[in-house]
Amino acid sequence: MNSGLPNNISQSTIEKTDSANTAGRLRKKANLAICVIGLGVQNTQNHIPALSNSDNAELCAVVDSDPDKVFNWAQELNVPGFLSVEQMLLQISPDAAIVAVPHDQYLPIIANLAAKGISVLKEKPLARSLCEANDIIRLVSSSNIKLMVAVQRRFRTTSLMFQEYVKLIGTPRFIEVRYTVNVGTRSEGWRAIKNTSGGGCLIDMGYHMIDLLVWYFGLPDAVAASFSCKAFPDILYEAEDMAFIVANYKASGLACNIVISDCLAPKSESLLLMGTEGSLALQRDSLILFDRNMVESQRFDTQLDNLIADQLEHFIQVVQGKVQNHCAPENHLQHVAFIDACYLSALRQKFIDPHDLINAM
Ligand SMILES: NC(=O)c1ccc[n+]([C@@H]2O[C@H](COP(=O)([O-])OP(=O)(O)OC[C@H]3O[C@@H](n4cnc5c(N)ncnc54)[C@H](O)[C@@H]3O)[C@@H](O)[C@H]2O)c1
Repeated sequence: MNSGLPNNISQSTIEKTDSANTAGRLRKKANLAICVIGLGVQNTQNHIPALSNSDNAELCAVVDSDPDKVFNWAQELNVPGFLSVEQMLLQISPDAAIVAVPHDQYLPIIANLAAKGISVLKEKPLARSLCEANDIIRLVSSSNIKLMVAVQRRFRTTSLMFQEYVKLIGTPRFIEVRYTVNVGTRSEGWRAIKNTSGGGCLIDMGYHMIDLLVWYFGLPDAVAASFSCKAFPDILYEAEDMAFIVANYKASGLACNIVISDCLAPKSESLLLMGTEGSLALQRDSLILFDRNMVESQRFDTQLDNLIADQLEHFIQVVQGKVQNHCAPENHLQHVAFIDACYLSALRQKFIDPHDLINAM
């Protein structure tokens, strides 16, 4: 980090870097040394605090392409800071990395980490397209690394309970998925541009709901979608702020209706499954069982505080080979196929089978 440094990363940071490296060498051997790549909202508000509180991992470096962020966070956290993954890898060898960057920046970062055998907790989505998902899968399978896609809703107790309680509602007939929030404005950064983000609310926040849908029910056989990006007329953006999707499962006859939006109030997050004997509603912080007349019969609340920490501990165990990686790239290929099928469906104005897109690769 001492060659080609921007002027605002000073010698004192480099000295901190040296002492932090020494601290890194003194870390408990069993602990994973994890670097954090991308110093935006998700890493600074969620992953770094979880890492700081973990007994099984230690933060060993921070990386961001923005020199001010690197300078400030390296000082704040007393770890070495780097302006790129390449620069970091010249000096240190982390055991693993948590990567949260704009969606178009992941591939070269993962390629560099995979080449050095460094496992990755990658923020969702797996990829912007099936083509990119394939590249990531190839990188991971040709190296010896573990890559886990971060979808923290899987770590709610109620998300796990859903799979048990589904047995109480008879034959599933209909799924309604809804995730709406009004962000109040429109990002003019990487999220607004389709090429850098891969899309809007569907691939961004909607990815969590697609994850639950595919995890519980598998990949639908037909999807039809329509999108809108007109909520903020004064701002030019091309990534959708509303997604309306119909999805069907051939074998079971199960039908699904999905509404995702980042410009729609009130705030809501739910996956409702209606069955012949009752219904089950998985909401952001609860699971509710309804009887046949939609009268609430049981309700379970869940704590959301520890999801990121629980996900991190799971990732550590995945890296150590102690547990199975149920968020591996192969598992998330279906999510990307679903999303690609939605965008293609809107373009062609017809139902698309996401399996066909996977088979055509
Ligand atoms: N799991 C969740 O609930 C959740 C929530 C928010 C964001 N995310 C995901 O986290 C990721 C990042 O989102 P965010 O909101 O933190 O974005 P952000 O824009 O706040 O931060 C991105 C950071 O990456 C840095 N960066 C850009 N290119 C880089 C590169 N090549 N190398 C290193 N750093 C680079 C930027 O300077 C910025 O600091 C996205 O994949 C997003 O979908 C997940």
